[in-house]
Amino acid sequence: MALFNASRLLGKTVMITGASSGIGAATAVLFAKAGTNILLLARREDALNSVQQACVDAHKASGLKEGGTFAHVQLDISDRAAVAALWSKVPSSFRDIDILVNNAGYVIGRDQVGDIDESIVDGMFATNVLGLIAMTQLVLRDFKKKQSGHIINIGSIASREAYVGGSIYCATKYAVNAFTVSMMKELVNTPIRVTEIQPGMVETEFSLVRFNGDAKAAKDVYTGLQPLTGEDIAEEIVWAASRPPHVNIADMLIYPVNQAAATIAYRTSS
Ligand SMILES: NC(=O)c1ccc[n+]([C@@H]2O[C@H](COP(=O)([O-])OP(=O)(O)OC[C@H]3O[C@@H](n4cnc5c(N)ncnc54)[C@H](OP(=O)(O)O)[C@@H]3O)[C@@H](O)[C@H]2O)c1
Repeated sequence: MALFNASRLLGKTVMITGASSGIGAATAVLFAKAGTNILLLARREDALNSVQQACVDAHKASGLKEGGTFAHVQLDISDRAAVAALWSKVPSSFRDIDILVNNAGYVIGRDQVGDIDESIVDGMFATNVLGLIAMTQLVLRDFKKKQSGHIINIGSIASREAYVGGSIYCATKYAVNAFTVSMMKELVNTPIRVTEIQPGMVETEFSLVRFNGDAKAAKDVYTGLQPLTGEDIAEEIVWAASRPPHVNIADMLIYPVNQAAATIAYRTSS
């Protein structure tokens, strides 16, 4: 059986934030395989170029005629003025979005309350919460006008369970969850779909960013177990997007098989 029903995605236009690495990049490539057009957004232009090329290759390999146009725009979603001006930088054929994947987000450090640098607090809220809200508002006005669209927010196990050393990150992801659920309730009388995908441990650049580029500290997070990959989460995102129009996947919590809570994991000693 096919992983997803590509016919439901053919020719759709997908906008993905945080498309330069990890879950966002893998999601872009999988959507490309499914015959969509994609607008890739992130701050790192070089990385966006590489992901765009990977999308071109994936679409070519799929043999599909539909979709297959790709563009990228450098965007810091925490910059409100830049988000407001986004459409002026986007080629006109990418301004009618069908699916928004609000994926950009990060955590810095494991400091506990009382010791957290205020600039880190501000930065995480500005991206994970305010940036996600600004991007959503940007498309939702159009979704309401045309009475269609799908917003897929990337939450986390941290949207459901707070843990020691994660106060700010968890607060941002709880906020994402509250925002997502409120929006889903507000849109109940429309065909617009709202989904939150909540991954557990995924090995991407996430831990490298968390530990300020310390590769060993980042690797240690996954010692003794097999973490999820960006591709594992991309499968869930594209699957949710490819359900029939009357089906809304409200949320999905995805763990590696040896994880059972934010801080409960079984690890082999070797
Ligand atoms: N990895 C995990 O274990 C895990 C678990 C649960 C949830 N998540 C969530 O999954 C999402 C993706 O993370 P990932 O694991 O794929 O990590 P990643 O590889 O570090 O990717 C994060 C992406 O977000 C982008 N980004 C960060 N700040 C941005 C900003 N201000 N403006 C625009 N783009 C920004 C980064 O691109 P640039 O640096 O190029 O801007 C990058 O493309 C995040 O929301 C994260 O919280 C991850």
